[in-house]
Amino acid sequence: MDGGQGNDAQGLFRIAYDSVVALPFGEAGESELRRMMETARQRNAESGITGVLRFDGAYFLQVLEGPRAAVEETMARIRRDPRHTDVRVLSAGPLERRDFAEWSMVLVTEAEMAAARQRNPDLLEVYPFRTAEVVHSLRGVLGGDRD
Ligand SMILES: Cc1cc2nc3c(=O)[nH]c(=O)nc-3n(C[C@H](O)[C@H](O)[C@H](O)COP(=O)(O)O)c2cc1C
Repeated sequence: MDGGQGNDAQGLFRIAYDSVVALPFGEAGESELRRMMETARQRNAESGITGVLRFDGAYFLQVLEGPRAAVEETMARIRRDPRHTDVRVLSAGPLERRDFAEWSMVLVTEAEMAAARQRNPDLLEVYPFRTAEVVHSLRGVLGGDRD
């Protein structure tokens, strides 16, 4: 993510979307997901994007933050990815500061969500279209010490 930090002064942008996992991806399972995360982290680090991807086995929810052009270009690529369908942008707009600055992309799994729910049942009761709540919830799941 280092590449983009310097661009923050020019204005940050954030897109949040959700989508439905496509069957080929579901069948390929865990290893496909790990591979996809590797690609995402590498590409995002190059273009100054940070964010989070929540996957519960059926739906994705992703937050991308960074310089506007990079975020939009990445979103366009993600949209075309056949590993998911029904991409629905929940919000897109300027951002004052990054919420996931530590991660070029961090995965939040169903297991992590379940564990977080045990600790704090309110944490994940959010409406997906309320991006501020989603961000707060996912930050709560991640805590401050994940790599
Ligand atoms: C749910 C989901 C999330 C993704 N997140 C990212 C991401 O954050 N950054 C990224 O570069 N690619 C992400 N990808 C992968 C892109 O769709 C694409 O495969 C990848 O960027 C390589 O693009 P290319 O084959 O056009 O070079 C994601 C794909 C899916 C299905």
